[in-house]
Amino acid sequence: MKVLVLGGGGREHALVWKLRKSARISQLYCAPGNAGIAEDAECLPADLKSVDSMVALATRLQPELTVIGPELPLTLGVVDEFTRRGWPIFGPTQVAARLESSKSFAKAFLQRHHIPTAPFAICDSIEQVRNALGHFHIPVVVKADGLAAGKGVVIANSKEEAVGLAAQMLSGKLLGEAGTRVVLEECLKGDELSFLVFSDGERVAPLVAAQDHKRVGDGDSGPNTGGMGAYSTTDLIDVQLRDWLVHHIARPVIAGMKAEGAEFKGVLYCGLMITARGPMVLEFNCRFGDPETQPILTRLDSDLLDAMEASIEGRVSEGDFKWTTDAAVCVVMSSGGYPGTYEVGKPITGLEEADKVEGVKVFHAGTSRREGVFYTAGGRVLGVTARAGSLGMAIERAYQACALIGFDGAHYRKDIAAKALKK
Ligand code: AMP
Ligand code: GLY
Repeated sequence: MKVLVLGGGGREHALVWKLRKSARISQLYCAPGNAGIAEDAECLPADLKSVDSMVALATRLQPELTVIGPELPLTLGVVDEFTRRGWPIFGPTQVAARLESSKSFAKAFLQRHHIPTAPFAICDSIEQVRNALGHFHIPVVVKADGLAAGKGVVIANSKEEAVGLAAQMLSGKLLGEAGTRVVLEECLKGDELSFLVFSDGERVAPLVAAQDHKRVGDGDSGPNTGGMGAYSTTDLIDVQLRDWLVHHIARPVIAGMKAEGAEFKGVLYCGLMITARGPMVLEFNCRFGDPETQPILTRLDSDLLDAMEASIEGRVSEGDFKWTTDAAVCVVMSSGGYPGTYEVGKPITGLEEADKVEGVKVFHAGTSRREGVFYTAGGRVLGVTARAGSLGMAIERAYQACALIGFDGAHYRKDIAAKALKK
């Protein structure tokens, strides 16, 4: 069977690596891919901003399944276009992907369906922002409505700061079209949790939970990033909490979308805050998380292709997934300066040695290769991922592998999963 994966980051490397293990796949393609993915799949150029480019590629390759990594192709309606042509594709349609592409849609949807989320206000003008701010305590969260690659959420520590930020977003100066509507939201306290489920539009099967580390520095200091590391263990959430999340969040979302004529198929990522008042939805993504996918798929012992086909064919069930009780930890190595400006093109050493550490797989995010040498080619460069019988051992293996890898300006957090280990 021929399978095409769209995307070129650490998440897509993990998807390709896992799909590669599927006995039924004979040809695996990835577009555009990266230098690490090229070891596991044939990489081809594609413009993920253009539906025509993706259609042209699939016309040429005739894949029997296409899997989408990032949000943009979903938002552009690639699933709709492929489905119209009868081409099997894993992921939600454009209207269903509004759960991610419009925060105001997601918040109003949650309210309509009585799914727990922070109190909020949707504002299209600065006057509305000023008026609404009277109803919020400080700090208050200011969010751009549209896709902003992780840069659309700011916690404001005064009303003046909130007004200033909202004004910049609304004018289009800060984030372009994505910010021309803003959502104000109560700032929640608690532990964040990434809870992903597969759905076929009706049924729901939860994946193992994971936790991301969004800030660039140790102890959750510094600015937000795309994610500096993640881990997944059996005891991150207990069965009771998992069942609660399925019954009170995942199922109502899938049922609500169906009732509104926007059936959601694919993987639904629920970004949650576990607060003193109970779990609340912070955001949805309509795709796998990056870097959560790296530890989650590392813990999956069953076939990913089977589970994806079940989503497309309307027969999702929890039995599609067999999980190990092992823990998995992913430490992201980034370019110096990320998430601000950074340089690329630095040679990377030690990759082969790191991959040989027991239980370790080095996923590539932003890398290129010339004459046998790997170079940095992005902000997040590698996701060094380890699996082991205990969380402590997984952390140790991941950091042992990180220490073997070198490139000019390399940065990584030293405390991924450290809080969980203390508990
Ligand atoms: P989002 O893009 O909505 O996922 O937000 C990105 C990050 O901002 C989340 O992972 C949280 O760390 C933080 N965040 C978003 N909404 C809130 C909130 N209401 N309270 C506190 N933190 C938030
Ligand atoms: N790790 C957060 C995301 O994928 O959006």
